Amino acid sequence: MILPIYTYGQPVLRERAREVEGDSPELQALIADMLDTMRNASGIGLAAPQVGHSIRLFVMDASPQAEDVAEENGGVVPEWARGPLALINPALVPDDGYGLESAEEGCLSLPDVREWVARPDRVRLRFLDRRFQPHEAAAHGLLARVVQHELDHLEGVLHIDRISPLRKRLLQRRLRQMARGEVEAEYPLAPLQA
Ligand code: NI
Repeated sequence: MILPIYTYGQPVLRERAREVEGDSPELQALIADMLDTMRNASGIGLAAPQVGHSIRLFVMDASPQAEDVAEENGGVVPEWARGPLALINPALVPDDGYGLESAEEGCLSLPDVREWVARPDRVRLRFLDRRFQPHEAAAHGLLARVVQHELDHLEGVLHIDRISPLRKRLLQRRLRQMARGEVEAEYPLAPLQA
């Protein structure tokens, strides 16, 4: 089932999401719906707060960019990142400092707002998969970017919080419009909460 996506200005996007306590049929249904919703919106990642659930869960699917991902990850797409997947209670594992890399990012919660964001180009992370099996994984390049963007959502942080003050000033009008509900996309959006 395709869920409506919450857009900039809606409070759920600014909350710190809570840990997932355990498995349930509702959680499995939410994961399936989030995968449908991401696919319908041609997204590469989608976090639970973006569909109105303030829990530590995101889905991703880098397979449309598999060639780039393979190139950035030593010639092969890492096994954990093959195909669509859900990451439950994901967290970064502290690692030595890697270089920052800038790339353009979009977000399904801010349709048409594409901005350059600098982030570490490699991360290590821990997460539970949808069967609650634990994983520790390394991500480089695009995978690292998606993981960090989605982890930000679980902290109530958006990619526009990581751009320069000048770029942000240039976006102010658009952001104000969006917060008033003046926003359209090619996928269903959640109406503003009263
Ligand atoms: Ni996003």
